[in-house]
Amino acid sequence: MTSKKQPKKERVFIFDTTLRDGEQCPGATMTHEQKIEVAEVLDAMGVDIIEAGFPANGDADSDAVREIAARAESAVVCGLARATRQDIDQCAEALKKARRPRIHTFIATSPLHMKWKLRMEPEEVYERVIESVTQARNLVADVEWSAEDAIRSERDFLCRCVEAAIKAGATTVNIPDTVGYTEPDEYRSLFHFLINTVPNIDKVVLSAHCHDDLGMAVANSLFAVKAGARQIECTVNGIGERAGNAALEEVVMAIKTRGDIFPFNTGIKTTMLTRASKLVSAVTSFPVQYNKAIVGRNAFAHESGIHQDGMLKHVQTYEIMTPESVGASKTSLVMGKHSGRSAFRDKLKQLGFELADNQLEDAFVRFKDLADKKKQVYDEDIEALVDEELAAADDRIKVLSLLVIAGTMGPQVATLTLDIDGEHKTTQASGNGPVDAVFNAIKSLVPHETDFSDYQVHSVTEGTDAQADVSVHLKAKENDREFSGRAAHPDTLVASAKAYLIALNRMIARQGRGGSS
Ligand code: KIV
Ligand code: ZN
Repeated sequence: MTSKKQPKKERVFIFDTTLRDGEQCPGATMTHEQKIEVAEVLDAMGVDIIEAGFPANGDADSDAVREIAARAESAVVCGLARATRQDIDQCAEALKKARRPRIHTFIATSPLHMKWKLRMEPEEVYERVIESVTQARNLVADVEWSAEDAIRSERDFLCRCVEAAIKAGATTVNIPDTVGYTEPDEYRSLFHFLINTVPNIDKVVLSAHCHDDLGMAVANSLFAVKAGARQIECTVNGIGERAGNAALEEVVMAIKTRGDIFPFNTGIKTTMLTRASKLVSAVTSFPVQYNKAIVGRNAFAHESGIHQDGMLKHVQTYEIMTPESVGASKTSLVMGKHSGRSAFRDKLKQLGFELADNQLEDAFVRFKDLADKKKQVYDEDIEALVDEELAAADDRIKVLSLLVIAGTMGPQVATLTLDIDGEHKTTQASGNGPVDAVFNAIKSLVPHETDFSDYQVHSVTEGTDAQADVSVHLKAKENDREFSGRAAHPDTLVASAKAYLIALNRMIARQGRGGSS
């Protein structure tokens, strides 16, 4: 067999901002440990640059950037900084231990942002670009500069700023569509224009950063690459400000699947995409939409007779990529109530979890309990159980017992016992329905001022004995900050109480630290 040598494909760098642009959206706040866990998965998955946080935002971000910088094995670790001396110094300090640090500094260049947000004249902004990039470049060798709201900036001014940033030492220049306003042709033409107009543009990597307000973030990013961008900024599951950012898994699989149109490589181990998606969904308590491309539970499901018939004859009739290529397996029966500790440990390893001995013991006890209640235990059940175990590891308040009386006779009444800092407290409360009664009982034992911003129930697997997967998002009345919790249990009301308490524990922990989100 003769083999034709394929021309080497150019590399597109994947810049992940799940821990910065993703984490800053309402309700996606992660604990320090969760950020470290997400960063480990991103690093192992082959992400080129991890934007780990915004150090000037407070201790929580600084600490996360510092620890991720020290731990990352292959990824560049990046911190965000506004164009101020203090932000850039703080960012450099947090990145001190990184093998490959990057400072990402930005300032808005659109008339709207300069006038109303910054209250600065364009010439002041121009000077600030030079000062900030020069300062950053004196601290680290790898500096990214972003023109915030580039898409609504005047092209001549944008070109001047880009040229100045490169002269001052930027190594990557990012052209964000901050408000998700552009469309593929317009974005591509902006990159063409910059490439053909800015004299020193060949000295930098150009980057695309798109928000999804009009549902075009992934398409826009790919069109930027067609025009010459070689870095895409994206987030796992597309989480991010408002409608979110370009979804990492979609960008990566579009490039991989349509190599004929996008003749590029990324360094992503695509078999880890599903694991990354599940982890980010678990730690943010943001469920993944069922029909979400690549990582939605229906992304590889074939329901209609015609499709199933085609699939049986030839899988490519309806499948453009395999579930295995993104790390998705068919729902699989794992173990039953007779399975032992070592089989459980092996299963966790296979699913990508590494637990400390005490966490493993707790998870095993809960697995046995679940296996007693549920005929069949699936991979998804184990994942939900372990995700919850990790989320609740340091919780001060835990559910000890819950009894709910519900039905047509009303009123619905919940009797709840909580462990609060080691003390057992019991109360009874009624409500407008059983969930309301449970939540009222929690509020009476732990008084707090919050509103609900979201409450969702999904089933983990199929069947009436499936576990309920509940997510709760609470908004603190004091400052509108959101906290989320997610838990699974065969009893929907127990899962609801646990999810509520995970969110509440996070709120209490954050208030205890006096930190900002
Ligand atoms: O959307 C945006 O403009 C940003 C910048 C900070 C890069 O997130
Ligand atoms: Zn952004």
